[in-house]
Amino acid sequence: SLQMRTTHKVSVWPVGLVGGRRYERPLVENGKVVGWYTGWRADRPFAIDMAGFAVSLQVILSNPKAVFKRRGSQPGMQESDFLKQITTVEELEPKANNCTKVLVWHTRTEKVDLGNEPKYQLDTVKIEV
Ligand SMILES: *[C@@H]1O[C@H](CO)[C@@H](O)[C@H](O)[C@H]1NC(C)=O
Repeated sequence: SLQMRTTHKVSVWPVGLVGGRRYERPLVENGKVVGWYTGWRADRPFAIDMAGFAVSLQVILSNPKAVFKRRGSQPGMQESDFLKQITTVEELEPKANNCTKVLVWHTRTEKVDLGNEPKYQLDTVKIEV
């Protein structure tokens, strides 16, 4: 989505076909991220796939020591380990209509796994993927 062009610091949005679900997304209230819709470890500080955020170059340049580790993070913690070095949940900028639209998919060259998809609607919004 071109909405990522308007990122001031760090922006976030839903990602389709990830984590064994149709989608995962940041939960947004009053324009702010307040939690995460995910099938797995929602207690992670930033329970988001690496396809679900953008960081402005200014933030990267002003945090020269911030690293996105290729290894050494706990499973699923790569994004949190990185993002906590440069931002807070409170200052995340929700894109994609307050994170109610899937405009990005975590595609792989393999069959889609929906093994973690809830049997009943758990999210507060209905999202087309
Ligand atoms: C997102 O939510 C805020 C606060 O409720 C609202 O002011 C804003 O218009 C919403 N943005 C979009 C794109 O829906």
